[in-house]
Amino acid sequence: MATLTDEIKRRRTFAIISHPDAGKTTLTEKLLLFGGAIHVAGAVKSNKIKKTATSDWMEIEKQRGISVATSVMGFDYGDYKINILDTPGHQDFAEDTYRTLTAVDSVIIVVDVAKGVEMQTRKLMEVCRMRNTPVIIFVNKLDREGRDPFDILDELESELKIGVRPLSWPINIGAKFKGVYNIYEKTLDLFKPDKQKVQERVEITDVNDPRVDEAVGEVDAAKLREDLDLIEGVYPDFDVAQYLDGKLAPVFFGSALNTFGVKELLDCFVKIAPYPRPTRAEEREIKPEEEAFSGFVFKIHANMDPNHRSCIAFVKVCSGKFERNAPYKQVRTDKVMRFAAPTAFMAQRKNVVDEAFPGDIVGIPDTGNFKIGDTLTEGENLHFRGLPSFSPEMFKYIENTDPMKSKQLEKGIRQLMDEGVAQLFVNQFNGRKLIGTVGQLQFEVIQYRLLHEYGAQCRWEPLSLYKACWIESDDDAALEAFKKRKHQFMAVDREGRDVFLADSNYVLQMAQNDFPSIRFHFSSEF
Ligand code: G4P
Repeated sequence: MATLTDEIKRRRTFAIISHPDAGKTTLTEKLLLFGGAIHVAGAVKSNKIKKTATSDWMEIEKQRGISVATSVMGFDYGDYKINILDTPGHQDFAEDTYRTLTAVDSVIIVVDVAKGVEMQTRKLMEVCRMRNTPVIIFVNKLDREGRDPFDILDELESELKIGVRPLSWPINIGAKFKGVYNIYEKTLDLFKPDKQKVQERVEITDVNDPRVDEAVGEVDAAKLREDLDLIEGVYPDFDVAQYLDGKLAPVFFGSALNTFGVKELLDCFVKIAPYPRPTRAEEREIKPEEEAFSGFVFKIHANMDPNHRSCIAFVKVCSGKFERNAPYKQVRTDKVMRFAAPTAFMAQRKNVVDEAFPGDIVGIPDTGNFKIGDTLTEGENLHFRGLPSFSPEMFKYIENTDPMKSKQLEKGIRQLMDEGVAQLFVNQFNGRKLIGTVGQLQFEVIQYRLLHEYGAQCRWEPLSLYKACWIESDDDAALEAFKKRKHQFMAVDREGRDVFLADSNYVLQMAQNDFPSIRFHFSSEF
């Protein structure tokens, strides 16, 4: 029988992240194809929200509705159990993505060979860096014209601020793309466009084998050897320890759409990517192999059925074995709960599960009992760290437009904030409630859901602010002086912490200069 340690060691829980359109959905689908979780390409209805849909809110609803099934995709690959955590493609849901990144042990970043590092990738990498998450990079769309691979490597290194080490190398790109030499396995794969099947492999033992010349022609074979010499000269040997520390990213090249270079990526990934790692709680570090179960809620997904308000709370198992119907303590409320119908996400289907292990994600039907960041344990009081809210960048006052429904509005706002849809602040000067988000879409989401799920109506009043930041100081007098000076711009968050609402970058900088003893934080966890 497999022990807890065996179960832990075979798990790989990760997320694929990219700037929209780089190929995240396509790559996810191909990984599922290799895992036998789906049988034909095109089967994944991702929760990708097309950029064009920003004004079409119903369309987004529909897409969010089906995304529960694809939020977590679990499948077996050889001896490994793989859990892919999906992240919303739309940047207005970036906060969701940040939180999902707290529940993974590693990340695969997809970069478009023509576009290189884009804005969203840069931001997401910052979050990975904060947590030293190990990163593998897949440079995609080699079948299209793109940039020189050496240029791409330089850009990855400088823009993502991480060391890189190619583990595969393309032979030309675009129309002349002939294949990829796998530096890690020392194999050569020839490119044949095909959306379903794996490519042809040339059996060689080293790149100087004359079969390389036969396969790709002498000129390209010579160029490949030259490139590889250069790589060996410039880049240090691949060091797994550095990768696991989040300091070095192995780089693969391929074409997700053509299922090319994907298997190499997956095979290397399962070998080097970390199995579930210890989780930091405020009280102590929790090791996955501890007997007692513990886990935390990193995501709450609303069910879009307007007739009954129910959600799924996504719990990441951090230690021990999760069991159906076992009594677990919800630390925040001190309540003991039993879950009769927890679900696991295997091969895109939700099934009721009897048990789950560290690295797994369990879906728990919820009717408003959970809040993002909640911890479940067998009794110990643990509070997991690492689920920060980031300074929102868009703000609006929320106004009740139906005085008969103010209770419903209060409740709706509270529950939506628990779900992490946006952040609520109360301006201390005028007592008004303001909602901060990272994107315009959230305001639409909130308004729509308040109406459909709570029967409450609201109106937005625009507010021009640059950023909200949390402030603290060891010098109480300075803090009081600051709050007095800025009293019109002081708010509190839901935990009652002081938040400064800066209306411009200039004002923020001046405040930082004038009050050096005050610390300004751009994420809620400090
Ligand atoms: P995303 O989730 O990162 O947003 O990207 P997605 O996988 O949806 O891919 C974006 C577009 O890029 C899709 O085309 C997809 O077919 C294409 N693509 C992905 N990988 C490759 C590749 O290796 N080579 C080439 N040439 N194209 C690739 P689309 O036209 O936007 O969507 P669709 O209508 O094909 O679904």
